[in-house]
Amino acid sequence: MSAVDIPYGLSEIEGELYEHLVTHAEFEMKLMGKYEALATSSTPWVGFLAGLIAEDEERHHRLYDQWAESLRSLVQRESGEGLPDLGAPDDPAALVATTEALLEYERKDLKELRRLEKAIDDVKDTTVWALVLEVMRADTHKHIAILEFVRHQAKLAQKGK
Ligand SMILES: [Fe+2]
Ligand SMILES: [Fe+2]
Repeated sequence: MSAVDIPYGLSEIEGELYEHLVTHAEFEMKLMGKYEALATSSTPWVGFLAGLIAEDEERHHRLYDQWAESLRSLVQRESGEGLPDLGAPDDPAALVATTEALLEYERKDLKELRRLEKAIDDVKDTTVWALVLEVMRADTHKHIAILEFVRHQAKLAQKGK
């Protein structure tokens, strides 16, 4: 018996996914608590860095929660705050243009971040600056992945016309 209450009506695969999502959301919640505790560290820089991770974990928890909610709303009448369904976007041509412009900025940002990282290489063991830049670089890669997905969907919608 599983500890998770799987909504009646889901397929076996959906049920397994649901169980995984709920269990994982609980795990992320616990992890978030640990980071939040570390974020109150009496050492300011440790608190600051743990706070950055806690923010991410909070978002991860919310995403797992929303995903599980989308599975619930497949078989239950009430529609909650699940992940949005994927459909053709409004004005795909404009969306392609917007995402392309943003991708260009993000790629410029990557180069700029790398340049800055090199410039402060001397203080990488004595300040958190290089790590902050590295974190922002990782975020920028994430922004690029999101924008590429949006652009791909917009292009698919353009072809479908
Ligand atoms: Fe996480
Ligand atoms: Fe960005």
